[in-house]
Amino acid sequence: MSERFETTTVHIGHKPLSRAASKSTPIYQTSVFAFDSLEEVEKYYEGEGEYLYTREGNPNQVELASAVARLEQAEAGVSAASGMGAIMAGLLSILSPGDHVLASHEIYGGTYALLQKELARLDIELECIVLDSGTSLADHVRPTTKLFFLETITNPLLTVVDLPFWIRQAKELGLYVMVDNTFATPYLVQPITFGADLVVHSGTKYIGGHSDVTCGVLVGSRPLIARATEIVVNYGASLSPFEAWLAARGLKTLAVRMERQCDNASEVARFLQNHPAISRVYYPSEEATAFFARPKQGAMVSFTLKDERKIYDFYRALDWIKFVPSLAGVETSVSHPVTTSHRAFSEEQRKAAGITMGLVRMSVGIEAIDDIVSELARALEN
Ligand SMILES: Cc1ncc(COP(=O)(O)O)c(C=O)c1O
Repeated sequence: MSERFETTTVHIGHKPLSRAASKSTPIYQTSVFAFDSLEEVEKYYEGEGEYLYTREGNPNQVELASAVARLEQAEAGVSAASGMGAIMAGLLSILSPGDHVLASHEIYGGTYALLQKELARLDIELECIVLDSGTSLADHVRPTTKLFFLETITNPLLTVVDLPFWIRQAKELGLYVMVDNTFATPYLVQPITFGADLVVHSGTKYIGGHSDVTCGVLVGSRPLIARATEIVVNYGASLSPFEAWLAARGLKTLAVRMERQCDNASEVARFLQNHPAISRVYYPSEEATAFFARPKQGAMVSFTLKDERKIYDFYRALDWIKFVPSLAGVETSVSHPVTTSHRAFSEEQRKAAGITMGLVRMSVGIEAIDDIVSELARALEN
């Protein structure tokens, strides 16, 4: 090695420590991996080497995706730069031009926009249906119907979709099923165990859990995930190593966070149900969540103020519970669907969906329950 300063400053002596047993996973903050010889490169392309270029794969991405796959009881997983990136990869791993998609009418607005604005240009047709007792998937299936897309817990009214019932119907009709399990997490329910083909997460939410990372994870069978991985790579939707590392670190506490957040949320729901300023509380019932893996009802609570003119005062009166148009962090936060997530809805659509000016969506955190309740009580006194 040259002794010249300019060369030495660049070649600072990094040696990969393949046998150093660090307790936590290092961040492989590298865009590319080095090879000792052309033979090693050949081996990579023959499937023997693991990593070449971070957009095509990186140990931090793999750690996150494999962990979520294990928790969801799936064969394989792939991470993406956002929940939307993971949803896109999942949809495109199944759909081709000419296909028809059935989806719950309560899917996340971003998913709706992806299907309605982007995939429609690929001649993929979306039909949204209300998942209630009057609906039969068979009435909506066409020869071109390929996929049924649904969410375990809907936003913002927190309806729990009866996954075993709907997935069974879809499978009997020969459809692929993709479930967005963001609001429930694998701590509460694993849709693969009911026959779902793909499960997707906005890892930005409970998987990461600390509101410091934007990422997505898609899990499912090996062949579908292999195709979805090609799509993530080809569309350039790969997750950065640091974001993957943050999400994987957050994931380690998913069980303790969810246990505490669900318990706190059920206390908040109980408190609100008895409050004179509240006209309605939306919180999943024990009956609706009977198919969950645990006797918990989730960590989100929505409610409507009796007097919706007081909505501005309510948000102003909150002190440490912050208004954030997202969810699932360890801190309790509130959002307002009419001014944020459902802003694009017309007055008529909002009315039909029950999303009114007085509706508050609360993401319950891990704080002491007495503090959460007294902060809410104070803000509702207005
Ligand atoms: C249920 C659900 N799915 C998907 C997404 C999209 O995730 P991301 O913002 O990480 O792309 C969101 C975002 O809020 C969501 O709430």
